[in-house]
Amino acid sequence: MSNNQTTTLCVSVLSGKGGVGKTNITLNLGCSLVSAGEKVLLMDCDLGLANLDVLLGLAPEKTLQDLLLPYTTPAEVAIPISEGLDFIPAASGMPELVELDTDIRNVLFDKLESFFPAYDFVFLDLGAGISSTVLAMAAMSRLRLVVVTPEPTSLTDSYALMKVLSKKYGVTDFYVVVNQADNHREEVQAFDRLHAACQKFLKIEPQFLGGIRTDRLVSEAVRRQKPLMQYAPHSLAAQNFNALASRLRSIRLTMLPQLASSSVLMPLPKEFS
Ligand SMILES: Nc1ncnc2c1ncn2[C@@H]1O[C@H](COP(=O)(O)OP(=O)(O)OP(=O)(O)O)[C@@H](O)[C@H]1O
Ligand SMILES: [Mg+2]
Repeated sequence: MSNNQTTTLCVSVLSGKGGVGKTNITLNLGCSLVSAGEKVLLMDCDLGLANLDVLLGLAPEKTLQDLLLPYTTPAEVAIPISEGLDFIPAASGMPELVELDTDIRNVLFDKLESFFPAYDFVFLDLGAGISSTVLAMAAMSRLRLVVVTPEPTSLTDSYALMKVLSKKYGVTDFYVVVNQADNHREEVQAFDRLHAACQKFLKIEPQFLGGIRTDRLVSEAVRRQKPLMQYAPHSLAAQNFNALASRLRSIRLTMLPQLASSSVLMPLPKEFS
């Protein structure tokens, strides 16, 4: 960054239901953006059950939990993964972190706010569900990716999450990623169902960012603890990730003026304080 203006796009990756692909999407979108020359920070914000570190085959010494201590800085916790890609891990099995105390959460966010501007993209891989920490991080990010699969349970849970964020916290803009559809028709149908419900009952219009098809190489890469983008860069899902990454790059460019006009993290709605 050449001046004090922020150009960082902070993207949260969320879903109502667990296990729909948030962590894989965070990791592989990040890798794809780095290949395109962007500087990316991945942050594991699944404070109860972290697992980005597992997908990367790492056993981190310091985690997000250490950032709750007064003098630890994000730079001490962030792990360089490759040129242009850094990673802040979270601690697993710490249920008390899922519902962070407001003061502690604010200390954490202040530290992150001064660290994020070094990156073009910051991805927050959130836990499933609607804990106050998930809602706060979703509300503070500049762009929200809601991950769904075509299963009705995934669609209803994501609808519920968007309902809480919009009705309670006034957050109304969402981008939807449909993961694990078997074909284009299934992908479009899933998005249309979610979009119709949001439009009718919440009066909001989530946008379709794109889809990642079901690809057995995704789970094979997970088992090998390698990002799909390295393990199978020409696979169908990898091509889907590249398409999604390219859309995100265009979105960021159109958002630059508004990114420059405020802080990396949006101020929390007053309902949170
Ligand atoms: N496009 C895909 N094709 C095939 N399998 C997939 C795909 N996306 C995800 N999976 C499978 O789903 C599993 C769960 O994915 P992931 O861990 O990314 O979900 P998550 O939403 O982060 O879960 P959690 O809510 O527990 O954090 C993966 O380990 C992988 O086996
Ligand atoms: Mg996950």
